[in-house]
Amino acid sequence: MEICLVGAGRIGEVHSKNINDNKKTNLKYVVDINFIAAKKIAKKYNAIPLKSVDEAIKKNDFDSVLIGSATNTHINFIKKFSNQGKNILCEKPIDLDINKVRECIKTLKKNKTKFFIGFMRRFDPSLMKLKKHINEGKIGEIQMISITSRDPMPPPIEYVKVSGGIFLDSQIHDIDLARWLLSENPTEVVSRGSCLIDKKIGRAGDFDSVNTILKTKSGKLCQINNSRQTVYGYDQRVEVFGSKGMISTTNLRDSNLEITTKNITNAKDNYQYFFLERYKDAFINELDNFVNSVEKNLTPAPSFQDGFLEMKIAEAATKSAKKNKIFKI
Ligand SMILES: NC(=O)c1ccc[n+]([C@@H]2O[C@H](COP(=O)([O-])OP(=O)(O)OC[C@H]3O[C@@H](n4cnc5c(N)ncnc54)[C@H](O)[C@@H]3O)[C@@H](O)[C@H]2O)c1
Repeated sequence: MEICLVGAGRIGEVHSKNINDNKKTNLKYVVDINFIAAKKIAKKYNAIPLKSVDEAIKKNDFDSVLIGSATNTHINFIKKFSNQGKNILCEKPIDLDINKVRECIKTLKKNKTKFFIGFMRRFDPSLMKLKKHINEGKIGEIQMISITSRDPMPPPIEYVKVSGGIFLDSQIHDIDLARWLLSENPTEVVSRGSCLIDKKIGRAGDFDSVNTILKTKSGKLCQINNSRQTVYGYDQRVEVFGSKGMISTTNLRDSNLEITTKNITNAKDNYQYFFLERYKDAFINELDNFVNSVEKNLTPAPSFQDGFLEMKIAEAATKSAKKNKIFKI
């Protein structure tokens, strides 16, 4: 699969390495309006740097595109590449504007585009095992889920301002996880938010500490808590409670080192620092899933519809926190 990568920032670096390492893919183009960044990645993997998506559209000699540019650029690029018949793997969220996303569904349907949204946590080895045990009925009927997802440090304030807010930018990963694990859509959302870490985030109209409760039609509950700053590293834990038991995943550590001295008992190595480390395998598996699904003509998952529904839930969560109200989906 010949791939054009759009976006040579933080996430572009991850995907470019994985595309280069994958035996079935070749990194053909790297597009970024920051041409220095595009050139840097292209040089590393023997690809061709381009300054704009329109240049890539003119070239047209690739099968698939991986969109990892700033969120507010996604929907325009999705439409352009869909009209050109490309397969698309796009970073989350689909875009900032849900109306444009809703409108785009028609374009994708018309072109029969194979579209995958980048919720890579579904491909994390621990979470895949957890899901398998749930599907096999090991813990019976799910009753409650608890998701903790806390970043080690806040993103730059410039990123916060264009991110769409913590629910759409960050909690959307947990919302995806919740829907995937529950195998049911939430019908009710209640969220609360505070600014406890950095006043600049509050002044930008966002929260840095949030809680959400999702409730499904059958009454299943999921609580999600997010923080933009955790002094002990990236905190990623999931617990699923059911009629026959409980199943959970906890944080991964840099190594299995343990130390015991006169003053320290059984101290373990640090938690992996952030998503680049914690979800390294998930990003690799996500690309594999994209390539294999396209090759075998499988139905895309996670799909555009997943990304759209999760935007709707994240929007409801944002409104709930801002207006102190419960929202129906
Ligand atoms: N799956 C994940 O866990 C994860 C993690 C981080 C970011 N993301 C997503 O990836 C996307 C990028 O985030 P990032 O952290 O890499 O941001 P970034 O700011 O590091 O990189 C974004 C890049 O997009 C480029 N860009 C902006 N407008 C462009 C345009 N018109 N054409 C071409 N390139 C353009 C910028 O120059 C920049 O290099 C966002 O949608 C974000 O939500 C996902």
